[in-house]
Amino acid sequence: MTQPLRAAIIGTGSVATLHARSLDRIDGVELVAVADVMPGRARAFADEHAAAAHAYDSLEHLFAAETVDVVHLCTPPGVHAPQAVAAFAHGAHVIAEKPPALSLSELQQMTDAAAAADRRFAVVFQQRTGSAADRVKRLLDSGAFGRALFATCNTLWYRDAEYYSVPWRGRWETEGGGTTLSHGIHQIDLLAYLLGDWRAASAQLWRQAREVETEDVSTATILFESGTVASVSTSVVSPRETSSIRIDTERATIEVDHLYGHAPKNWRITPASFVGEEEAAAWNFDDAAFEGGIVPSGHDALLGSVYASLFAGEPLPAVAAEPARALEIVTAFYASAREGGGRVERERVQGEAALRGTLEAPVVDNRGVDNRGVETRAVDNRAVGG
Ligand SMILES: NC(=O)c1ccc[n+]([C@@H]2O[C@H](COP(=O)([O-])OP(=O)(O)OC[C@H]3O[C@@H](n4cnc5c(N)ncnc54)[C@H](O)[C@@H]3O)[C@@H](O)[C@H]2O)c1
Repeated sequence: MTQPLRAAIIGTGSVATLHARSLDRIDGVELVAVADVMPGRARAFADEHAAAAHAYDSLEHLFAAETVDVVHLCTPPGVHAPQAVAAFAHGAHVIAEKPPALSLSELQQMTDAAAAADRRFAVVFQQRTGSAADRVKRLLDSGAFGRALFATCNTLWYRDAEYYSVPWRGRWETEGGGTTLSHGIHQIDLLAYLLGDWRAASAQLWRQAREVETEDVSTATILFESGTVASVSTSVVSPRETSSIRIDTERATIEVDHLYGHAPKNWRITPASFVGEEEAAAWNFDDAAFEGGIVPSGHDALLGSVYASLFAGEPLPAVAAEPARALEIVTAFYASAREGGGRVERERVQGEAALRGTLEAPVVDNRGVDNRGVETRAVDNRAVGG
């Protein structure tokens, strides 16, 4: 029997729990070590999830003592790049939480280091996973729905002051961006996974209520190579939370409405009036339509398929490939905000060094003055809707 793969989790805060639970459900992998800079946190985490795992106070100390096959980066995004580069140098594969890095130049360092070490580099964009997204992607790619014409992509969440009291959140230097980079990127990634290459994007950033350096709302547009245009809204000031995508194609409207994960019951396809009953019935989301059972989106699905590819020695599956796509779109949004909201082409994002560094951009502050010191309309939007 082959040896199990030896996994380590770096950063044992909130999202690390999802990784530990998923690892527990995958045969052939063992959580052998964890690390966190907070004294006691790593040990307590190991005690809860894998009592035999060794606990360390840094990645460096962990590598000095352990041989590890796969490193899970569940740390804040500002340290993903140096930690991934160190892990590749150590000979490990890396599975990094979203956002993969604070900039495209950092992400390039990570993908270059993975290539140099001949290791795999997967990013956790788990909204791509699950039976329903897979089915919709196949149907879209097959042409069954005709051309996609218009889409909406809304990540309308609520994060209060306590959420932003964690020191790394809400700051350009450590979080890299605001809600667009940290939350909207999930749905943007799913939208682009479904619709393919993008051509250009534009955006504006707003600070409506939270005490953050970055934005708490953004309004944006993506133009895809196919000509599909998408309107993208992201917010952390929305009391009724939703994550939703709607794609209007020539032959149907495709919708998903969920919060942090979706199953077939969250999806709906409404055929255009001229589509025949028999064909429309074949697009259904009944349980019986999914041979082999239903897989909901989530860390289990993503990590399960990444490990399956590692066990088989195969390239990463499509749900874990192309780590740069969503970050490129988000980079275009921030670049557009820097340029007054105009259109930013994909070639510029891929080629111009100035766009591949920090995402920091002006945010229109509706609480008074924007971060360039320019007076804006002093509207207190906190009063609207309580
Ligand atoms: N995929 C998802 O659904 C999802 C959900 C939540 C968070 N995330 C992402 O996961 C990452 C972590 O988010 P979180 O909410 O778990 O944050 P968190 O603050 O709860 O946990 C981060 C942990 O990393 C530790 N840490 C910080 N710097 C470190 C370092 N240099 N070395 C080792 N440990 C270090 C902190 O002490 C903390 O325990 C972020 O990139 C976030 O965007 C993804």
